[in-house]
Amino acid sequence: MAEERLQKIISGAGIASRRHAEQMILTGRVTVNGKVATKLGTKADPEKDHIKVDGKLLRLAGKKTYLLLNKPRGHVTTLSDPEGRPTVIDLLKGVKGRVYPVGRLDYDTEGLLLLTNDGDFANTIMHPKFEIPKTYDVKLKGVLTDDEIEKIEKGITLEGRRTAPARIKKLKKTEQNSWLEITIHEGRKRQVRRVFERIGHFVLKLKRTRIAFLDLKGVDTGGYRFLRKEEVDELRRISEEGR
Ligand code: URA
Repeated sequence: MAEERLQKIISGAGIASRRHAEQMILTGRVTVNGKVATKLGTKADPEKDHIKVDGKLLRLAGKKTYLLLNKPRGHVTTLSDPEGRPTVIDLLKGVKGRVYPVGRLDYDTEGLLLLTNDGDFANTIMHPKFEIPKTYDVKLKGVLTDDEIEKIEKGITLEGRRTAPARIKKLKKTEQNSWLEITIHEGRKRQVRRVFERIGHFVLKLKRTRIAFLDLKGVDTGGYRFLRKEEVDELRRISEEGR
């Protein structure tokens, strides 16, 4: 294997994000062949060099795994839950090795979630400059007006910062509820729920139906499938191109 930047090797091994790996290097926690490496440009060959973090030899994450899960309601996307609720990892029976979620979905949100052991890929996909588009089916309390749709599409201020432009497609409505589809490019905490609540509509159901070109086809609720190499490459390409 060719030489790579140290922070990339560390995040690729799945023990830290790229940013965290950089901190580890800068604070002198990383050695290459016995010598402390504190420069971020340092390169190493992960197959030949002995790279240690806090004195522990870095184990290369073997095969990279990329999964697309259709999360049911009632599961957390953190790896463990202080309240003991089920986690998405509990749904991955049969998957060898450790993977972790790319981004998050709320306990009550359903739908698509990517999981991987490739920290570098996860960082690329979640880069705040350009997050890939994600589409949600939403059931709301009350009827959403065209004015309200326009407001949300233009951006709404949450915690002093405006949300990026969004796209909304009306699906149907009754006297009590509206159903719609919203596409956003960010992943701020509880973003969809908070945006609608801000204009007075409570979100009753939320399901992520698309992540870029990936949809729910072939993945039942609670089930998952492995991504094909072309899909992984395409996701990477879209996020890198968007910067
Ligand atoms: N927005 C939310 O409010 N919740 C989710 O789970 C995902 C996006």
